[in-house]
Amino acid sequence: MSYDLVIKNGTLVTASSTYKADIGIKNGRIIAIAEKLECDKIVDATDRLVTPGAIDTHVHLEMPIGKYTSTDDFYTGTKAAAFGGTTTIIDFVEAGENQTLVDALEERKSKAESRSIIDFGLHMTIMPHDIKKLNQVQAAFDAGCKSFKIYMAYGNKLNDGEILLAFEAIGEAGGLPIVHAENWDAITTLIDKNIKEGNTGPEWHTKSRPAILEAEAVGRVIDLATYAGVPVHIFHISCPEAIERVKNARIQGHYVTAETCPQYLCLTDEVFEAEGVEGALPICSPPIRGIVDQLELWEYLSSESFHTISSDHCPFTLKEKEAGMEAFNKVPGGVPSIEMRFSSIYSRGVRDGFITVNQWVDLCCTTPAWLFGLESKGDIQVGKDADLVVFNPSKEVELSRESLHEEAGWTPYKDQKITGWPEVTISRGEIIVENGKCLAEKGRGQFI
Ligand code: URP
Ligand code: ZN
Ligand code: ZN
Repeated sequence: MSYDLVIKNGTLVTASSTYKADIGIKNGRIIAIAEKLECDKIVDATDRLVTPGAIDTHVHLEMPIGKYTSTDDFYTGTKAAAFGGTTTIIDFVEAGENQTLVDALEERKSKAESRSIIDFGLHMTIMPHDIKKLNQVQAAFDAGCKSFKIYMAYGNKLNDGEILLAFEAIGEAGGLPIVHAENWDAITTLIDKNIKEGNTGPEWHTKSRPAILEAEAVGRVIDLATYAGVPVHIFHISCPEAIERVKNARIQGHYVTAETCPQYLCLTDEVFEAEGVEGALPICSPPIRGIVDQLELWEYLSSESFHTISSDHCPFTLKEKEAGMEAFNKVPGGVPSIEMRFSSIYSRGVRDGFITVNQWVDLCCTTPAWLFGLESKGDIQVGKDADLVVFNPSKEVELSRESLHEEAGWTPYKDQKITGWPEVTISRGEIIVENGKCLAEKGRGQFI
């Protein structure tokens, strides 16, 4: 057999096994997994792990939020993702009040197509003004949006009745509802109370969003999904109380899946103690919590209560964060994590002994692909897209604004030393990052 590219001598890691083999690639697909494959073009993976390309199912690139737009665009964001071993992202589309869901999808899709260097999908957000457009959900699904985002927080929040209607429409279309779950009424009451009492520092962000209010919303939305007879995926779980609700619902037979993110696994609320704007930079929602919460989340990962780890990459510049310094609720929320996600979960998760190397691949590659219907992605198998990462498990990297390629100009993981980093990232058989250089052409990414 002839190949376009062979990856030789690597240790292949999938969600279920670890073994030595070569991978033969032709026309962007894996066509052979065997010993001693030969080809003119070789990537030598001796002493390296070879994993599926990582999949990040929760990113916000060039996304308008309030008066700002998240910092990385589809080019800079996907480039940073590729440096970190990510070969597929799922971003979001939000329709304007007078726009159809399909028109909004086409617009966002062509923006991403012109810039993205890796493959991408889009979740459709159901905004409050979209409730009158729920009869368009099927058309959006047919046009390629398989998952629909619902906010229980912020200005985009739906009330419980609207959530129920949205769930029914999404369920009928065959889509997957995904939810930002926080009890907004109680949280905004606590925010107002704390601000009135002069408690404006960044640490009051976490104190205004206690874990029980995240857990309450998770429990409530699971009940609504159960009533509507639809599955539901809960985004960015930050605390044991919330994942416990998911775990119990699953024991009762409900189809609920859960995501957590690096910021809840690699940072603690100590970040808010930093002086000046540094202390406000890591504000995101749900908030970063204490060390006990963090360690318990790792335990829940170890016992497989979570299904995906995504970045929720949503950076704003230092200037934009600084402009909100008068009080924690004025700081635009979100942190950059798109590049360090895969490696940091290896370093903190696998090397520190919380999860196995196969659970790492499952959480960052395989289950994300399965959950969102990315059938050609997320695994090392003959017939799958040749989206692969050659990963050096002993490469040491100090995270900093200089070592990362994100545009925000800061990282909340500054000074963290991690062990394990991708050396080669391959997307549909094309080497897009090698030895610290991006080789991909802008706009090569495809909508999936
Ligand atoms: O604070 C965050 N997480 N910002 C991004 C938007 C969201 O809630 O996912
Ligand atoms: Zn959210
Ligand atoms: Zn998000």
